Amino acid sequence: MESSTKTAKTCTWWESGVIYQVYPRSFQDSNGDGVGDLEGVRKRLDYIASLGVDAVWLSPIYPSPMADFGYDVADYCDIDPMFGELAAFDALLADAHAKGLKVLLDFVPNHTSIEHPWFRESRSSRDNPKRDWYIWANAAPDGGPPNNWTSDMGGSSWEFDPTTNQFYLHAFLKEQADLNWRNPQVREAMTNVLKFWFDRGVDGFRIDVLWHCFKAENYPDNPLNPDWISTQGEKLKVFQKHSADQPEIHQLSADFRALADGYGERLLVGEICLPVPQLMTYYGTEASPGVHLPFNFQLLDAPWNAEALGKMITEYEAALPPSGWPNWVIGSHDAPRIAGRLGETQARVAAMLLLTLRGTPTLYQGDELGIGKVDIPPDRVRDPQDLRQPGLGLGRDPSRTPMAWDSCRFAGFSAAEPWLPLHGDWGMRNVAAQQGDPASMLELYRALLKLRREHEALSLGSFALLHAAGDVLIYERYQKDRLVIALNLGAEVQNIPDYGATTLLLATTGASMFSNTLAPNEGVILQRLNY
Ligand code: GLC
Repeated sequence: MESSTKTAKTCTWWESGVIYQVYPRSFQDSNGDGVGDLEGVRKRLDYIASLGVDAVWLSPIYPSPMADFGYDVADYCDIDPMFGELAAFDALLADAHAKGLKVLLDFVPNHTSIEHPWFRESRSSRDNPKRDWYIWANAAPDGGPPNNWTSDMGGSSWEFDPTTNQFYLHAFLKEQADLNWRNPQVREAMTNVLKFWFDRGVDGFRIDVLWHCFKAENYPDNPLNPDWISTQGEKLKVFQKHSADQPEIHQLSADFRALADGYGERLLVGEICLPVPQLMTYYGTEASPGVHLPFNFQLLDAPWNAEALGKMITEYEAALPPSGWPNWVIGSHDAPRIAGRLGETQARVAAMLLLTLRGTPTLYQGDELGIGKVDIPPDRVRDPQDLRQPGLGLGRDPSRTPMAWDSCRFAGFSAAEPWLPLHGDWGMRNVAAQQGDPASMLELYRALLKLRREHEALSLGSFALLHAAGDVLIYERYQKDRLVIALNLGAEVQNIPDYGATTLLLATTGASMFSNTLAPNEGVILQRLNY
């Protein structure tokens, strides 16, 4: 089987570390308005630290009209009153650091809110100095939008603005106008944003839709997707050949990277939803490195069988550039819950997979409780993507429901009715109920994270695929000690090869003995002796 001997040359905190994504609206409300806030996150830092993670990534907390729940930024250098104020952020940052946690912010460079003062100026007249900060174009000869680009949220990417009789571009909602990164003043203003937060002490950024920042000049039509069917949502109607992933993005990433590296050991994670060959280009080159970690989202929708997973993992490993550090994601505020997709028992195996693969894992709040499918009553749907294209299953609300801390009213999340409903079984599935119960998902996560910390083989060791067929996936991690991870992806008992003398370090089923047989939906971590 293919084997990777790549190991980290020097170890930074983020190579050996684990990132935990907090969606601040839904983590902890401290002021009784039903929406989470920074003071709430600060109060829960002990919980985050107790998981055994290294960094917290906060989804956007900046002033925003909340058309896309904060991904429509109206001021990059302040905090939305809903979340607190700069002083609350500073307190959170200081407390996180005191507990050994790094803090990553969400940087949203592709677009601003149309309420951002820059856009207000830009749209005010064709000769406004900020006109060119955004992307404006004349109507097509038929009077319609300038080209066929479709927004990820459905409909044309162009919105007509009667004040100046031109269209502006928006890759997402019409409330999110795309910045023109070809304008040097935009680069300068946004670089100052990064400096503002780095100077305040943040440890890095997750960069929102990085691959969207540049579009082809003159805006040629995108090729039509011949296989498109309307139930897929309008995003897939065309291939985004000219509206995203343009060559100029790499110099911009390199500039961001140089800035971050100038501050010491800071981390840039890029949100890039592209096939592996293109994704790899976002690592940049040895001479001109790009982001440290281009997010690898493949586990989110990988077919759940050993052959497909084994192939995906080895191909990803093989595609990495020599100094490229891998990373894995299994949940986010945009993706369906993993336990909803696989069921709770298999979600335990997925947790073991995520936390034993080579590369930095990103966990998403609530997955450690095993939150599964959530039904949002139609009158409580808030996600603009769902509201604009209803009935297609594109809604992201089910992954954004509030954290359940205990079985008190509103699950200890808030004193008031939360902005989104809680998951149905929150009364049983909450932190207090799972804490200390060795059979719980929460304690499985803690045990996995503890092992990852204790065994360099798991955090930094090399990876070798040993077996990938049917429902059985087995691989080895090696550095100082040699660990075999064997996962049963199905509901039948499976025999696995004999790897000689081993000690069972952890089983997702809680078993304490192992004899080359995996129970249904069982994953194990074995330590090889005498190899
Ligand atoms: C990213 C965010 C998503 C948002 C979009 C537009 O994909 O994760 O929540 O809607 O960017 O900013």
